[in-house]
Amino acid sequence: MKETATITVNGKTFELPIITGSEGERAIDISGLRQKSGLITFDPGFANTANCQSDITFVDGERGILRYRGIPVEQLAEHSTFVETAYLLINGELPTKEQLNGFSVLLNDHSLVHEDMRAFFENFPRSAHPMGILSSMVNALRAFYPEIPERTEEEEINITVTRLLSKVRTMAAMSYKIFRGHKVVYPRHDLTYPANFLNMMFDSPVRPYHIDEDLVKALNIFWIVHADHEQNCSTAAVRLVGSARVNLYAAISAGICALWGPLHGGANQAVVEMLESIQKNGGDVAPFIARARDKNDPFRLMGFGHRVYRTYDPRARIMKKACDRVLNKMTQRDPLLDIARRLEEVALSESYFIERHLYPNVDFYSGILLRALGIPLNMFTVMFAIGRLPGWISQWKESIDDPMWKMCRPRQIYIGPNEREYVPIGERG
Ligand code: CMC
Repeated sequence: MKETATITVNGKTFELPIITGSEGERAIDISGLRQKSGLITFDPGFANTANCQSDITFVDGERGILRYRGIPVEQLAEHSTFVETAYLLINGELPTKEQLNGFSVLLNDHSLVHEDMRAFFENFPRSAHPMGILSSMVNALRAFYPEIPERTEEEEINITVTRLLSKVRTMAAMSYKIFRGHKVVYPRHDLTYPANFLNMMFDSPVRPYHIDEDLVKALNIFWIVHADHEQNCSTAAVRLVGSARVNLYAAISAGICALWGPLHGGANQAVVEMLESIQKNGGDVAPFIARARDKNDPFRLMGFGHRVYRTYDPRARIMKKACDRVLNKMTQRDPLLDIARRLEEVALSESYFIERHLYPNVDFYSGILLRALGIPLNMFTVMFAIGRLPGWISQWKESIDDPMWKMCRPRQIYIGPNEREYVPIGERG
């Protein structure tokens, strides 16, 4: 027998179906509630609401589990590459050797950015944040690469997906070079996706960049752990904007804007700023912990806490290990890593954090890894955006193919004034 839930309001009972996911998660299907009862549900921040059924990513916040298409993120971080993981997310299965080669060739083929787009980059003010630039440029891609009527919808989507994955990486590196006033470095077909990115960022006519395979591995790991995280704020934005059937570039541009926020992807930059400020204040973490605990202080410990994880974020564990590996190789220590470790140790022993299940999240150690790779602070969230692209794309693709697709349009509980008369300006008191 199918499981149901009943709601009783003023003596009237309404029966609602219960749906169960493949990992046993259960949800009350309220899609017919308003029609049956005239009632809607109230759920600020959608903390208790599933907006879709999805077979892409599984997160168990209580047990600290993250899997892409069923495969644990730890295994992907250990054995896969970012390009292979992107293929898995977008297509549902790990690629064969031929499929992976074909995908890599396509990424190379689409890696150049239209030369006319350089004028855009060059005219942004120097103070512009790279996330603002990236979201504008991704939106502008549609103008430079319009739909071609001769292509089928599937061909159009496939080419847009590869363009985005490849060009966003090129545009990110290009914006950094232009921002610094340096010569733009073009992508090279002989380099892998992450090696190409590092080379475009750091190669220069006066100092050729040496590609270090350990750093390439670390960047692969960084992007793999960021590749998807089911219905997070930016992915929800991509799905919501995409639900109006806009083109993929516009939907991704909306995702980039959402990711920019310091409570979301912007946290990786905010963590390093916080660690730097602890360092400037002598390195004592106690006053910062005290501020985080103080209800009258809006300060939060950046890189701590998560809407879904009630335990250690599995991505943070992977990032911490990757950080250790890269920093052990370097001759110079990063003092911020010691501060981060101390901060974690003290916070995890404090009742405030224990009671609220606040643990390090993915952003806590990722900034330190990015610093070790030489990535400048204001590019941190751009690095997250490149990593999250496969997730946004696969979620968007799933949403447009969903037989239960509906344009996202939440309701509200209106609490404003009741009907009143318009008062002409001369009669207002
Ligand atoms: N420092 C201090 N207190 C915190 C923190 C923190 N980082 N995070 C949550 N709390 C407290 C919060 O004040 C509240 O306390 P009380 O119950 O006494 O009012 C309680 O914990 C629950 O917080 P919440 O804001 O209701 O929880 P949420 O699920 O809405 O917040 C969060 C999730 C990620 C927005 C929040 O933990 C936060 O602001 N963390 C810092 C920013 C951050 O690191 N963001 C990156 C998230 S992971 C990557 C990503 O998604 O992009």
